[in-house]
Amino acid sequence: MAGIALANDMTLVKRLQGATPFQNNNGTVPVGYSGPTFVLNHAWPSGALPPIVDAPWQNAIGNGRITVANAPAYAAALKAAVAANGRKLVADHSNWDASKAGWYNEPWLGTLREPISGTYQAGEFGPGIFPGTGLEATFQTNVLTYYDARAAATLTKFWHRDAMQPVLATTAAQFDEGAIIVKAALFSSEDPKRESGWWKAMDGAATWPLYISVGPQDSQTPPPAQLWSGSVAQFDIIVKDSASSPETGWVYMTLVYDAKAPGDLWDKMVPLGVQWGNDPQATVAGMALKENWNNPAAPLYATQTLGWGGRLSGPNDGGRNNISVNGKAQINAPNSSCMSCHSTSQWDPKTHRMTSFLLPSIPTNSPPYFKLCGPNQDLICSPAPGSAAWMKWFKNRPGTAAMDPGSFATDFDEVFAFKSLKLWWLAVGPKDQALPMLRVQNTPGLGVRFNQYSGAPLRTNRKAN
Ligand code: HEC
Repeated sequence: MAGIALANDMTLVKRLQGATPFQNNNGTVPVGYSGPTFVLNHAWPSGALPPIVDAPWQNAIGNGRITVANAPAYAAALKAAVAANGRKLVADHSNWDASKAGWYNEPWLGTLREPISGTYQAGEFGPGIFPGTGLEATFQTNVLTYYDARAAATLTKFWHRDAMQPVLATTAAQFDEGAIIVKAALFSSEDPKRESGWWKAMDGAATWPLYISVGPQDSQTPPPAQLWSGSVAQFDIIVKDSASSPETGWVYMTLVYDAKAPGDLWDKMVPLGVQWGNDPQATVAGMALKENWNNPAAPLYATQTLGWGGRLSGPNDGGRNNISVNGKAQINAPNSSCMSCHSTSQWDPKTHRMTSFLLPSIPTNSPPYFKLCGPNQDLICSPAPGSAAWMKWFKNRPGTAAMDPGSFATDFDEVFAFKSLKLWWLAVGPKDQALPMLRVQNTPGLGVRFNQYSGAPLRTNRKAN
């Protein structure tokens, strides 16, 4: 079996080394399939757009600073600002055309994309994480990101037209004021007998066709891909807005599917919350947050995955993990949040990787580049919550300030830091380099060991998940 896994890994390594920046997918279009397939939109604007004026999300809060009190109004205006495209993408997916919509994709991720909807694998979650919500299957999540024109101008600035020689510098990675990036996350049952009806929370949600492996992803040889449905469960919207959020320069928000909400499929995507900073002063869970608003009316399942001290994190985001603090295991411990995780976005051009990991941890110099703990080596060795070492992940750094010396900052963009730069370097760099923390890094015979999205070790005790 180890031999088979190794062979699979080697095939994947070759595929990643032979990748091209703008390929549409991983090359697995199903035999005999004649329906629509995903087309990457990389016709990025040639230069910066004129400065944004009269941003409706700023107007909604009287052009002052965002606060816990006015965040709901901000959220409504930001959602409305992307509604025309968002509604089409989510709810009228078969007629979605990114080039008509003027939304763009990042380069280098084609080898990870399934061919039908262009999504790539993110996390895997089970019933133990969503108690009392009627979840009856373990599910996997797949995601798709779009940059609006103002955000895509930064893709041009950073990658240049051919995406072969990125400008590895903080200045090139900065987004212009008003830039918007969205990301949809789809949930799919891993029970091959139940494509739908496995979770009441997803009843009636918008679905997209995906071509994915259905079954445990941590087995040595995950099942082959098949056509399968994914429910749109989460929709992130982030905006560069230094006027409303001067400390970080960004406002993060996410919508989640609420089966009970009124209206059409887009209306039923309700805000889970808004975050514009890391609340570095709140060093003990339970302290009041000043840079975070959570929607009290959000559906139960989406509130079960909030991050540390109630900071915003969505059901797809892996903001809770199995960690070990001073030798003691803490299962499903909130240890991250949208902005905590995104504030690690940086790249070291000498070591060709991120120095600190996405989640509070202890950096090392060999893969996976953070210390693992526990008898099964499936816990993240973690600094104690609230300690100075832990708070390194909960600082308010602007997008120009890297977390570690020797790295340049990528303005909170994790696609750059955690995915596309790695895949670019794998394709253009030396052939014998250490592999990134993607599927290829699995130890032969051990199956997939790391969440493809957050990079956290997968939970080995599937029943407890
Ligand atoms: C534990 C880490 C983690 C958390 C928590 C997290 N993200 Fe991300 N996010 C990532 C990574 C890694 C990527 C890039 C890779 C990918 O999309 O697979 C990403 C990508 C994105 C993108 C695409 C643009 C970019 O920055 O790369 C958006 C938008 C986004 N996340 C929004 C959010 C929002 C909103 C939340 C909270 C509701 C959130 N994220 C929580 C790790 C995280």
